[in-house]
Amino acid sequence: MNLSEETILKIDALIPKYPEKRSAALMIIHLIQDELGAIDLEACEWIADKLELQPINIQELITFYPMLREKPWGKKHIRVCRTLPCALRGSYATCQALEKKLGVKEGHVRDDGEYSIEFMECLADCGEGPVVMVDEETYENVDSGKAEELADLLKSGKLEKSKKFVSYENALVQDTSLEVASKPKPSKK
Ligand code: FES
Repeated sequence: MNLSEETILKIDALIPKYPEKRSAALMIIHLIQDELGAIDLEACEWIADKLELQPINIQELITFYPMLREKPWGKKHIRVCRTLPCALRGSYATCQALEKKLGVKEGHVRDDGEYSIEFMECLADCGEGPVVMVDEETYENVDSGKAEELADLLKSGKLEKSKKFVSYENALVQDTSLEVASKPKPSKK
């Protein structure tokens, strides 16, 4: 398994913090998934060996938790919320519009590995649905029409700079910098 030395050092430092080695399993899985994009069989065996467990003990965690993966998602991973508040505001149509524009069905990775879509439970922004996440950026009120525009911007590499689609996370950063800029500077004595 091609794991960086930095991640291996983090894992080695993490294990002694738990009263039992096996309790470190989820944290180790997350560290490896962050780096490799997924936990394949080789990674399962490696973790099991580290924690003196059987590979099946690791595999059962990966198949249980929806955020854990045996195969990596696409280079750009799109999540669409399908839980009731977003569904009532049209998230099924949003997901279909994204599938059509990006050429990939939800739950799959496009053949060239560029995009994957996940139609999943609550993304924790229920008042502003339909909610769509592109990697770690959250976009609110994305109806099917907006989803088509968002997909076009994503494909042309212009989404991040778009003024029309400002992610929740970027809006927060912008608000904070405005606040800092508007604070009176301390006077020099
Ligand atoms: S219901 Fe869609 S974000 Fe919670």
